[in-house]
Amino acid sequence: MPAITSFAPAKLILFGEHSVVYDRPAIAIPFTGVHARAAIFAMPVAPSGQVQIDAQAVQMDKTLDQLDPDDPIAITIHGVMDKFGISSLPAMHIRLTSTIPIAAGMGSSAAVSVALARALSTFLGHPLPDADINDIAFKVEQQLHFTPSGVDNTVITYARPVYFVRSQPLEFLHVRQPFDLIIADSGISAATGPMVSGVRERFNADPARYNALFDKISSIVLLARDCIEHGSAVDLGPLLIENHALLKGIGVSTPELDILVEAAMTAGALGAKLTGGGGGGNIIALAPEDRMENIQNALLAAGAHQVWTAKVLPPQEPFR
Ligand code: MEV
Repeated sequence: MPAITSFAPAKLILFGEHSVVYDRPAIAIPFTGVHARAAIFAMPVAPSGQVQIDAQAVQMDKTLDQLDPDDPIAITIHGVMDKFGISSLPAMHIRLTSTIPIAAGMGSSAAVSVALARALSTFLGHPLPDADINDIAFKVEQQLHFTPSGVDNTVITYARPVYFVRSQPLEFLHVRQPFDLIIADSGISAATGPMVSGVRERFNADPARYNALFDKISSIVLLARDCIEHGSAVDLGPLLIENHALLKGIGVSTPELDILVEAAMTAGALGAKLTGGGGGGNIIALAPEDRMENIQNALLAAGAHQVWTAKVLPPQEPFR
């Protein structure tokens, strides 16, 4: 039997990270330039229940029984078993690979969970609907990030641009005019959980100040939504810059990220900001077509470890 394979993209938050944890809106897109992949092979001669997992990116080569129950992979597999109402699995070998940088604000944990939940449910004969896949990936985010908003698992599961508010029904965004982004990796890892906890501590110490900052970010998100759906993508530039300044205000940028934002702007970007939890990870820059190469070169010269490009397009088939 051939392997059952499933892919999940990374994600980029265009606007509204951190404030989205406090029930404000965010805009996020799938990023298919890097992805997670789960492949499942039947092991017909192995004893039933033997589930072998190899995930080279995290140096894992274990059976399901050997995993801590709080391990994201174990949570995902048990999440699928719960949805099926089963307590054991046929023998199988699960191979997990990912090109998504870890702890870089691109949703690597959610992507691995989504790819695995999809492949496993397909292997078991009934591909789970997106809502179930999203539930399972959210459980993983809860384990890793304490109080996740759910935006990462949602945009990765549905693999379409989203306008997301945690307490409201999900809305997909209709991109009117394609636009180009450059993504630059600072090379500094920063797990999302501690960044979210740091903001929580500062919020608790001064809720009025933080609520005011989050409200300003909300206004930017609303304007950005309007530009994406009805206006001109060029107008997103100043909004990216303003959102970055507010993220600095809540203490999640770093000198390295600020230098990358600055370098992108000097090289002709229309706007730029950090993306994701901050503390390291990536920035995104909105790039006019004729400045793409310049901006990429400037980012590499300013210390980016790698750069990617992404074209944000009107609706397409989701990436699976
Ligand atoms: C992380 O990608 C986005 C944050 O807003 C956390 C969350 O939404 O759960 C920082």
